[in-house]
Amino acid sequence: MLKVLNIVGARPNFMKVGPIVEAMNRRSDRFTQLLIHTGQHYDAAMSDAFFEDLDLPRPHRYLGVGSGSHAVQTAAVMTAFEPIVVEKKPDWVLVVGDVNSTLACALVCSKLGVKVAHVEAGLRSRDRTMPEEINRLLTDQIADLLLTPSTDADDNLRAEGIPDERIRFVGNVMIDSLYKQLERANRSEIREQLGVAEKNYAVLTLHRPANVDDKDTLAGIVGALQEIATKLPIVFPAHPRTRKALETFGLTSRLEQQLNLKVIEPLGYLDFLRLYSGARLVLTDSGGIQEETTVLGIPCLTLRNNTERPITIEMGTNVLVGVTPARILDAAFSALNSIEMKEKPRVPPLWDGKAAERIVDALQEF
Ligand code: UD1
Repeated sequence: MLKVLNIVGARPNFMKVGPIVEAMNRRSDRFTQLLIHTGQHYDAAMSDAFFEDLDLPRPHRYLGVGSGSHAVQTAAVMTAFEPIVVEKKPDWVLVVGDVNSTLACALVCSKLGVKVAHVEAGLRSRDRTMPEEINRLLTDQIADLLLTPSTDADDNLRAEGIPDERIRFVGNVMIDSLYKQLERANRSEIREQLGVAEKNYAVLTLHRPANVDDKDTLAGIVGALQEIATKLPIVFPAHPRTRKALETFGLTSRLEQQLNLKVIEPLGYLDFLRLYSGARLVLTDSGGIQEETTVLGIPCLTLRNNTERPITIEMGTNVLVGVTPARILDAAFSALNSIEMKEKPRVPPLWDGKAAERIVDALQEF
C-alpha cells in the first residue's frame, strides 16, 4: 500500500489533482491518499467553487496560509506542511504545476527524505523573471519522479542533467478534467446570463504580475482591449490581483466605460469551460488556458513574450502576441478576419483524458 499526500494550493492546481485523486481512489487496494490544501488561494471563487465543480473531496487538512510576499507565502507553506509530513510519514508527496505551494512542499520533503512526484514537470519559459519559472526549475531539481505533459519537457529536463530514470512522459492531466467535465459544463447557463451568443464574443483573462503590476503595461493592454471591444464583445473574469491593480492605477472606470467589455468575478470551472468553449477568440496570459483552447480548437492570443508550452503553438491554436497594444490589435483583427480556422485542431500526444491513470501507474512502478 502506498500512502500519498496530494497537494493543492492555488486555482490552477485543482483541475490537475482532481483526476489523480480519483484514479488513486479507484485503486484503493494499492493507494491511500490524503488531500492537503495549503490555502494559497482562499476566496470562494478562487478555491471552493472548484471543489464543487470538479467533485474534489474535502481536503483532509487545510493549512490556511493565504497571501503574502513570495518569501512569506513560501515559508508559511513550509512551516505548516512540515509537521504533517512528519506525522503522516507518506511514501510519496505529489505536487503539481509551478505555484509557490508546489516548490514549498517539494522542498520540505527533500529535506525530510520523502519522495516527491512532480506533475507537469519540465516546462520552461526560459524567463527567470517569472516566479513560476523559478518554482519549476527548483522543483524539478529536487523531485524524484518527473511526470511530463509533452516530450519537449523531457528534452528540457535531460538538458538540465536529469537522468532518464526520473522522467516519465504521461501527458496532460489538466485535459483529463476538461474531457470529463465537458458535458456537465454544457448545462451551464453562463452565456445566457451574460447575454453573449456562441462565436460572437471574446474571453479575456489576465493575472501575470509582469502584465498587471506595471501601470504602463496594464494601461496599454486596457487600451487595446477597448478597441477590440468595438468589434467584438469581451467578457473578462478578473483575478483579484488584477482587479486590485486596475483600481490602484485608476483604470477601472476606463474599462467600465466600454459597454462591450464586461468585467465579472472569477468563474468556477464549469462556467468558465462553457464560456471559453463558445468563444470566437480567447486572449490570455494564463498557462493552462493555452492548453485548453488548443484541445478545443479555439483561437488563443497569448499576451506574453514567451511561453513554457510551445507545443500549443506548434500543434495548437495558440499565437504568442506579446503586450504591445499595436501587436495585440494586429493579432486580434487578423484572427477576426480569418474566416476559417487553419485546419482541424490537432491535439498533442497523450492529451487524451487518461493521464491520471498513467501517473498512478508511474508511482506504482517507480
Ligand atoms: C498564483 C500563481 C500563478 C498562477 C495563479 C493562478 C505563484 C507564484 N503564482 O498567482 O502561477 O497562475 O496563482 O491564479 O504561486 N488573492 C485573493 N484571493 C485569493 C488569492 C489571491 O484576493 O483567493 C489576491 C491577494 O491579494 C494576493 C494576490 O491575489 O496577494 C496574489 O495571489 P498569489 O497566490 O500570491 O498569486 P497569484 O497572482 O494568484
